[in-house]
Amino acid sequence: MTDPLDFSGKTALVVGGSSGIGNGMAQAFRAAGAEVHVWGTRASAADYAEEEGSDLTGLHYTHVDVSDPEAIDAAPAIDRLDTLILCQGAVQYGRGEFTREGWHKVVDVNLTSVMDCGRKFHPALKEADGSLQIISSTAAFHATIGNPAYGASKAAAVALVRNLAAAWARDGIRVNGIAPGFVKTKMTKVTFDDEERTEQAISKIPLRRTGDPAELASAALFLASPMASYILGQTLVVDGGLTLT
Ligand SMILES: NC(=O)c1ccc[n+]([C@@H]2O[C@H](COP(=O)([O-])OP(=O)(O)OC[C@H]3O[C@@H](n4cnc5c(N)ncnc54)[C@H](OP(=O)(O)O)[C@@H]3O)[C@@H](O)[C@H]2O)c1
Repeated sequence: MTDPLDFSGKTALVVGGSSGIGNGMAQAFRAAGAEVHVWGTRASAADYAEEEGSDLTGLHYTHVDVSDPEAIDAAPAIDRLDTLILCQGAVQYGRGEFTREGWHKVVDVNLTSVMDCGRKFHPALKEADGSLQIISSTAAFHATIGNPAYGASKAAAVALVRNLAAAWARDGIRVNGIAPGFVKTKMTKVTFDDEERTEQAISKIPLRRTGDPAELASAALFLASPMASYILGQTLVVDGGLTLT
């Protein structure tokens, strides 16, 4: 019997695969045999060498700032793409998202660039009967008081999963999503560098711990695999129970 989680001969691209959750996903697909491309904001892979949560070993890195639609259009094409994971994410702290500039910075990355990347790779995914996964957040399902753009863009990402899933199923593309809870990464450093905020965050999680990028990667492998062949338009919540409380 063939192993459904063997991705040998397959190609994956993880946008936002240079760091944190996306990097964990990229390395999981590489470990499962895939050829893996990642995009990030820095000029070269070497620029991530000292960064905690960034392991670019064995990954093909390309610098693409996805907040610039023209940069997405100009990025190298991939003829046949089995799995596209859109894991790019931005947040503004200190009430920055209440300003027009801050709002656009977050929405451009968390929502507009997701559609731009999906549009760019639609032909390559169609060619491969591939799958697309959009990484949103549990913030899609509850208020995040200081982050209106983050919450709204992540809720929109969940809606986009449903819409693209319905639209692109006829092209042989399966679209699904993953909504992570709390994971220690560059993005959540502000919370987890502070002992009191860490305790507060963890107290809300029934499993009483943060998630690991590898645990999010397991969900991504499953959704990309033939084991999920009849799952369409769903956002899988991977949050240790955070949204249950
Ligand atoms: N950590 C959590 O608790 C949590 C919870 C729910 C949802 N999420 C979501 O999970 C995803 C990954 O976040 P993370 O926690 O792993 O944070 P992270 O380590 O900061 O990773 C964010 C990724 O997005 C990339 N990115 C940001 N802006 C970009 C831009 N303009 N162009 C291209 N790439 C850009 C980053 O590139 P660089 O490495 O070059 O900066 C990085 O690869 C995000 O969508 C986030 O909203 C995270």
